[in-house]
Amino acid sequence: MTEMNFLELLKAEKENTEKYLKFYLDSLHIPGVLHDAMEYSLSAGGKRLRPFLAVVVCEMLGKPRELIMPYACALEFVHTFSLIHDDLPALDNDDLRRGKPSCHKAFREDIAILAGDALNTDAFSLLFEFGEGNLKRAGKYFSKAVGGRGMTLGQIYDCTIPENERTAEKLDFINYYKTSELFIAATAGAAAWLDADEKEVNALEEFATELGIAFQISDDILDITSTTEKLGKPVGSDAELNKMTYPALMGLDGARNAVVKRTEKAKAALMSAFKESEWMEILLQFADYVRDMAK
Ligand code: IPE
Ligand code: IPE
Ligand code: MG
Ligand code: MG
Ligand code: MG
Repeated sequence: MTEMNFLELLKAEKENTEKYLKFYLDSLHIPGVLHDAMEYSLSAGGKRLRPFLAVVVCEMLGKPRELIMPYACALEFVHTFSLIHDDLPALDNDDLRRGKPSCHKAFREDIAILAGDALNTDAFSLLFEFGEGNLKRAGKYFSKAVGGRGMTLGQIYDCTIPENERTAEKLDFINYYKTSELFIAATAGAAAWLDADEKEVNALEEFATELGIAFQISDDILDITSTTEKLGKPVGSDAELNKMTYPALMGLDGARNAVVKRTEKAKAALMSAFKESEWMEILLQFADYVRDMAK
């Protein structure tokens, strides 16, 4: 790797991922408005953090980059699906996403629901049709992360948790499902896809568990402290919907402390299993990036 700082690398990888996203979507030959709505949300921007994690894990393990790209893009397909549905009037009712009208605003609600459905399912098309990794081993992480034992379960809890059951412990549990699970798929799942050792896969799972929870807390802080312009999505949405979040439970300082603790634990998990290397250092810097996101 040439000398590059973390943010430059993130930007370069984002551009590379976006080329592949376009290539895979085009390769599926989906017709008409379904294609247009999928493409609209997929190409709207976004930080591309989950593909980035998968790519960094691939480099850290010394595996060929081409092996990871279908998997990395499949992660972004399901993540984009989760955002389209998250914004629907029945869920968070947010009209702006990635700096543009949300899918249900740019198209229609029915079309957005179906574009989400297709992105979710076609993530698996990428794995089945373009992927050459260890599908059986990684598939477990990938499908678990998305469905009723992962992100979707987290979203149900997020929507239905009664007011009198709100504790930090419960929230960690919800954030684990909502957000850590996809981070686990992006790291431990990516490593399983690339036939890494069990010990490495397990350490990445621990890393991503902590990191995902920290990331969701940071996202919740930004919902209070940032601006709609900067985030490209409406701020104040959580308070308006009376969502259970760390800042709501324990204030901004309590939430910020929790982020620091979680990212430190994430880094410790990584250091326990991997020798120092340039790419391992990038993963540590990713944890710092999450730590500093909502400072
Ligand atoms: C937003 O994720 C949803 C959460 C899990 C908090 P990102 O902040 O990664 O969204 P994009 O992909 O950059 O739009
Ligand atoms: C949603 O969390 C995380 C998902 C699993 C989609 P949020 O509802 O806080 O995400 P944003 O703030 O809308 O991106
Ligand atoms: Mg939500
Ligand atoms: Mg939301
Ligand atoms: Mg949010």
